[in-house]
Amino acid sequence: MTDMSLVNTKVFFRADLNVPCDENGQISDDTRIKASLPGISAAINQGAAVMIASHLGRPTEGRFDSRYSLAPIANAISSRLGQEVKLIKDWFGGFNVRPGEVVLLENCRFNVGEKENDERLSQKIANLCDVYVNDAFASAHRKEASTHGVAKYAKTVCAGPLMTKEVLALSKALENPTAPLVAVVGGSKVSTKLPVLNRLAESVDHLILGGGIANTFLLSQGNSIGRSLAEKPMVQQAAEIFNRIVQKGGTCPLPSDVVVSKKLEKTAIAVEKQMGELDPDDLILDIGPDTINKFKDILKEAGTIVWNGPVGVFELNQFSKGTKALAKAVEESEAFSIAGGGDTIAAINKFSISQLDYISTAGGAFLEFLEGRTLPAIEILNFRAGGEPADLKG
Ligand code: 3PG
Repeated sequence: MTDMSLVNTKVFFRADLNVPCDENGQISDDTRIKASLPGISAAINQGAAVMIASHLGRPTEGRFDSRYSLAPIANAISSRLGQEVKLIKDWFGGFNVRPGEVVLLENCRFNVGEKENDERLSQKIANLCDVYVNDAFASAHRKEASTHGVAKYAKTVCAGPLMTKEVLALSKALENPTAPLVAVVGGSKVSTKLPVLNRLAESVDHLILGGGIANTFLLSQGNSIGRSLAEKPMVQQAAEIFNRIVQKGGTCPLPSDVVVSKKLEKTAIAVEKQMGELDPDDLILDIGPDTINKFKDILKEAGTIVWNGPVGVFELNQFSKGTKALAKAVEESEAFSIAGGGDTIAAINKFSISQLDYISTAGGAFLEFLEGRTLPAIEILNFRAGGEPADLKG
């Protein structure tokens, strides 16, 4: 977007302003709004009339529901830009926006046909503008009318600065990483991250695992894990991933000591134990101090670090030491470091981590990028730029 002239053009700017809101409708984390502002400001400064669009949550199409209204987001953008940002409820009822002005179109998921990537809706959106800008990396895995269909029909299409920054940072880490490449993958289930683990197994030098995922891998290596969360049906797959990494000369270090409790609750008592000392009713809820040190040594030597997922129940302080220590180690490392995913961003915020090379704004899209999947919203932009043919069907 910043390479082209936008003077006197009508710009449709698809951002991802899908931010968490509390029960009173107040925005509880404005990271995505802040991340979208450079692109919005650049379009205004280039003399465009700017229409911003985004989804919020997953409302029912065709029905206005105030819980999913972008009204609080219009106010937030307005106060950050220092100029009026009108909220336009009816996208197709005719509205005015002049060069240098900006409006926010109401939640795009109220439009019938958005999710289905409806052709007619996509054409109608394209007719609103001269230039379609997609700056919504966090929605790039969604093939919807405002992320994909419109890009087929708009006169001119381009990527916004946030989209560009995200794709460059992730590509740098995954396509041409400085060795050694260390991935930290936490979270509860192997099954939901299996494609990511399989892809990383091909490229990592060290795969550090935590959370329920590590428990399943511990099981696959013959450890007793008490009553801890694990997926027994995934044990075989975990063993295969472990062996593949080791056969390639890499490592998949598993926890040698852990923090356990008998229950997962706010007041649970945390006890450090070596693996091999667990009672049948113990729950593993964090990694232990020896393991933290072992993982920190690996992170210190890394050339590139990719981090997705906490290694313990970091929401409870007594089980947060492992995730906090690893987050700090990633921050202090000289490596090119990127992190992303919903839980990871929550941990980064909780522990005030700021010195990573790149913190993605995306959850699902970050994971799909790590999996090596083609993201439809990026594919269509590439196609319009003369790249590989995209799947143009709805
Ligand atoms: C996200 O939060 O991951 C994106 O905004 C996409 O939201 P969705 O999963 O509701 O499509």
